[in-house]
Amino acid sequence: MKVAIVGASGAVGQEFLKVLDERNFPIDELLLFGSSRSAGREYTFRGKQITVKELKHNDDFKGVDIAFTSAGAGISKEFAETITRYGAIMIDNSSAFRMDEDVPLVVPEVNGDDAFVRPRGIIANPNCTTIQMVVALNAIESLSHIKRVHVATYQAASGAGASAMAELRKQYEQIVAGETPTVEKFFFQLAYNLIPQVDVFTDNLYTKEEMKMFHETRKIMHSDIAVSATCVRVPVMRAHSEAIWIETERPV
Ligand SMILES: NC(=O)c1ccc[n+]([C@@H]2O[C@H](COP(=O)([O-])OP(=O)(O)OC[C@H]3O[C@@H](n4cnc5c(N)ncnc54)[C@H](OP(=O)(O)O)[C@@H]3O)[C@@H](O)[C@H]2O)c1
Repeated sequence: MKVAIVGASGAVGQEFLKVLDERNFPIDELLLFGSSRSAGREYTFRGKQITVKELKHNDDFKGVDIAFTSAGAGISKEFAETITRYGAIMIDNSSAFRMDEDVPLVVPEVNGDDAFVRPRGIIANPNCTTIQMVVALNAIESLSHIKRVHVATYQAASGAGASAMAELRKQYEQIVAGETPTVEKFFFQLAYNLIPQVDVFTDNLYTKEEMKMFHETRKIMHSDIAVSATCVRVPVMRAHSEAIWIETERPV
């Protein structure tokens, strides 16, 4: 199988490389893409050096079976046609297509069958906080319909990308050195702090991240479930946690 990763140098792209290897994914040829910033960089996959190519509107995706894309929503929108034109399945990590009716939003453990209906050749991957929650909810839904969920998240720096992880590390170093920490990637200093705001606020005063948990959960579970989320960034490098309160229709 010919596989492509778009955004190979990023936090998600690097995890793709690790997981594809760990899972022994059947790959005959792997192509890596990025912007001009990472083009030319080399990564080792199964003992072979692979050079990152610059993502352009050309025929590079001819013959590609699956393209895992994680270079941000804008890039996914701009390049979807170029990537899928010759039949590649685009599995997209960004928020670009998640709520589009003709794009399935899939967590394999929950609604894997939805992936078979993909009119645009695109399968969207949900927000990280939604994914881990619906895996747990789905098991309970099989016992009784879930009416409501209140969830509080504890989200690591990794969710904001590679440069955000670097910023957290740098903030700790700066504070230890008695310097004022640099704040660019987060709304406030994250080191030694908690930030009860992930992404921007919407009109209803939930943040975009919190509303994603509402909308995406309903689409994935094909359910009228009501989700109220409070998303908090915590000063750890990796791994999100969640505290979830669930109201079922019948006692479980
Ligand atoms: N981090 C997470 O846990 C997580 C979880 C779910 C979804 N996502 C989503 O996945 C996407 C990537 O997130 P990330 O955390 O991996 O971000 P990141 O660490 O900032 O990496 C971004 C990647 O996009 C590439 N890129 C940027 N502009 C590009 C362009 N014009 N052409 C080609 N490649 C370009 C970058 O390549 P260069 O090095 O060349 O700039 C880099 O490889 C985002 O949409 C994010 O919302 C992230």
